[in-house]
Amino acid sequence: MIMQGLFAIFFLCFVAFSQAKPIFNVLKYGASGDGHTDDSHAFEKAWRDVCKAKKGNPTLLVPKGRTFMLQPMVFQGPCKSSSINFKIRGIISAPKELKGWRWRSSERGAWIQFMYIDGFVVKGGGALNGQGAPWWDCFQKFRCQRPRAVSFHACEHLKLRRVKLVNSPGGHISLNGCNGSIVSNIHLVAPDESPNTDGLGISGSSHVKVRNSIMEVGDDCITINGGSNMNISGIFCGPGHGISIGSLGKGGTYGAVEEIHVRNCTFTRTSNGARIKTWEGGFGYVRKIIFEDIILKDVQYPVLINQYYTAFAATGGNKKAIKISDITYRNFRGTSYFEEAIKLMCDNVVGCTNLVLDNIKITSSNPKMKTRSSCSNAHGKSSASNIPQVSCLK
Ligand SMILES: *[C@@H]1O[C@H](CO)[C@@H](O)[C@H](O)[C@H]1NC(C)=O
Ligand SMILES: *[C@@H]1O[C@H](CO)[C@@H](O)[C@H](O)[C@H]1NC(C)=O
Ligand SMILES: *[C@@H]1O[C@H](CO)[C@@H](O)[C@H](O)[C@H]1NC(C)=O
Repeated sequence: MIMQGLFAIFFLCFVAFSQAKPIFNVLKYGASGDGHTDDSHAFEKAWRDVCKAKKGNPTLLVPKGRTFMLQPMVFQGPCKSSSINFKIRGIISAPKELKGWRWRSSERGAWIQFMYIDGFVVKGGGALNGQGAPWWDCFQKFRCQRPRAVSFHACEHLKLRRVKLVNSPGGHISLNGCNGSIVSNIHLVAPDESPNTDGLGISGSSHVKVRNSIMEVGDDCITINGGSNMNISGIFCGPGHGISIGSLGKGGTYGAVEEIHVRNCTFTRTSNGARIKTWEGGFGYVRKIIFEDIILKDVQYPVLINQYYTAFAATGGNKKAIKISDITYRNFRGTSYFEEAIKLMCDNVVGCTNLVLDNIKITSSNPKMKTRSSCSNAHGKSSASNIPQVSCLK
């Protein structure tokens, strides 16, 4: 009797608990997790149930200790519950060889796509492996089009936490149309020489926070290609190409980025630190940007504005450009690999206005050399105590 009573209590607790937090383990849907069997179908079935579940915090669980091979997949909402979890405890791997990739639709933008999911929480502990090496090779030999590893599209209030992602074929993660997202403690890794393997690309999103993450990639650690009000802090970037606004205005297009606050970031042996790049012939603006409390170690171009990223139609005759204004660089410390630590190349169409450089101390990695700055069409002010001095500002 006592045993039965206890059992009943345990059973009721179990039911209550599982209703509060229904867990959909991909193993229950027939995933093998042996690293080479295609587990896409099991993930699709599990996702269908997660997305249909109405109560609690439905959670798709990728259990630890196993590797699940997935073909390119789309996890799509809208889902029934206002909060959906995707817990990656194990490893999710892309097909190892190029000929193993199977595309189901014409959409080849990313290996794993999440779209139209509100209140989506992706938590790591495990990792994703994009198996990028054969793609890099294919790109270098034949200019192959490569997918990103993971894309989020129209995911309002996304939370992406503690996710590790290695070796993406192209850019690692993109957020597009994801207002109010929080990205924290992620770790992106690809070799320095892997071509254009950007870390995190953000576009069309506002009120985004990115913090406390490590990005060791072959291109920009973070790139912001449209949107506003983003706070980025506690990022360790390197190898990589730094944190970039743009490139904007490619092919004469409109681009707009404002209210970006990059704080407390460390750049180690990156090609750039704080970079803004726009194409000639585009239109729009980059404004109200602050880069502050930045540590630099052997960075090639710690502060770089390039309004001539590439000429539109190579004519230069098009009298349009993306306006750059109200940009502040404050509290920069560390070393620059090249002499030209501060390079502000603004065009003669709209130029750059109200650039502020304050409390900058960037010395050369080579103790025998001095750093210097260069500008064209750059307007603003620079503290007299900055190293290097930026007397070329108008
Ligand atoms: C996202 O924010 C931008 C700017 O605040 C706004 O224009 C846009 O409508 C928002 N998108 C959604 C889906 O709410
Ligand atoms: C970013 O930080 C500023 C203050 O530094 C704050 O006013 C703003 O709300 C923050 N934005 C986000 C999206 O956290
Ligand atoms: C700066 O970032 C580091 C690394 O994430 C973090 O440990 C530290 O608390 C941050 N400091 C401030 C003042 O935010």
